[in-house]
Amino acid sequence: MIRLSNVSKVYDGKYALHDVSLTIKKGETLAVIGGSGSGKSTLLQLLVGLIRPDSGEIFIDGQDITKLSEKEMDKVRLNMGMVFQYSALFDSMTVGENVAFGLREHKHLPEAEIQRIIKEKLELVGLYGVENKLPGELSGGMKKRVGLARAIAFGPEIIFYDEPSSGLDPITTAKIDELIVDMQNKLAVTSVVVTHDMASACRIADRIAMVYEGELIAVDTVENFKQIKDERVQAFFRTLHIAKEGQTA
Ligand SMILES: Nc1ncnc2c1ncn2[C@@H]1O[C@H](COP(=O)(O)OP(=O)(O)OP(=O)(O)O)[C@@H](O)[C@H]1O
Ligand SMILES: [Mg+2]
Repeated sequence: MIRLSNVSKVYDGKYALHDVSLTIKKGETLAVIGGSGSGKSTLLQLLVGLIRPDSGEIFIDGQDITKLSEKEMDKVRLNMGMVFQYSALFDSMTVGENVAFGLREHKHLPEAEIQRIIKEKLELVGLYGVENKLPGELSGGMKKRVGLARAIAFGPEIIFYDEPSSGLDPITTAKIDELIVDMQNKLAVTSVVVTHDMASACRIADRIAMVYEGELIAVDTVENFKQIKDERVQAFFRTLHIAKEGQTA
């Protein structure tokens, strides 16, 4: 479904990503983990075509998106849902209008159909009767759900999440993780989830990819990942124990 081949991206003479090759299978959930500034968001921006690589190729469904015009890329994007780090909702629009925003822009649907889709997508993320509320009236976790409902409004085949649970408490984080897994089961989409939370990665992913200073240093199933001896990988697992101690303290 998605294949990166020797992809590099340079900012200010420094590699944000260096020679990354990676294949993401159809229906798979891949978690991308790594520390701050390791290149996770850069990877996601490349995949949705917001930026272009300095070298390498990126195939989505067999098509090299690095060669597409902006207009052709727009077409590919209709098949992608994107959940942003900060919910990125329009504060002056109701929840329903936020969910329908892309639909109104790109598809000419009868109003009744739009209303049906709004309701259906909000129910999928476990929200009922909030269509007419403003984002400011919702909790952080609910806003994330609305962001997710908007991302799936088109019925995309691929969903990208950038830190879907950042800024949420551990319990709400676990709920969002459950929702991502639930979405996976109900919609059978391919997902790429960027997170620096190892506990989340283990809960949601089929495989984990770790980036370190722009390099892809490990890709494996959650089970195998735990066995990787590399100190940089192990350091991430230790954060799990620290988090657990913090919860009981
Ligand atoms: N638009 C940009 N202009 C200049 N440098 C950039 C730009 N975007 C990213 N970088 C640099 O590229 C590197 C990777 O950044 P990126 O945002 O991908 O990291 P990240 O893993 O998402 O970090 P975080 O966990 O803090 O979100 C960093 O050194 C960053 O400063
Ligand atoms: Mg980031």
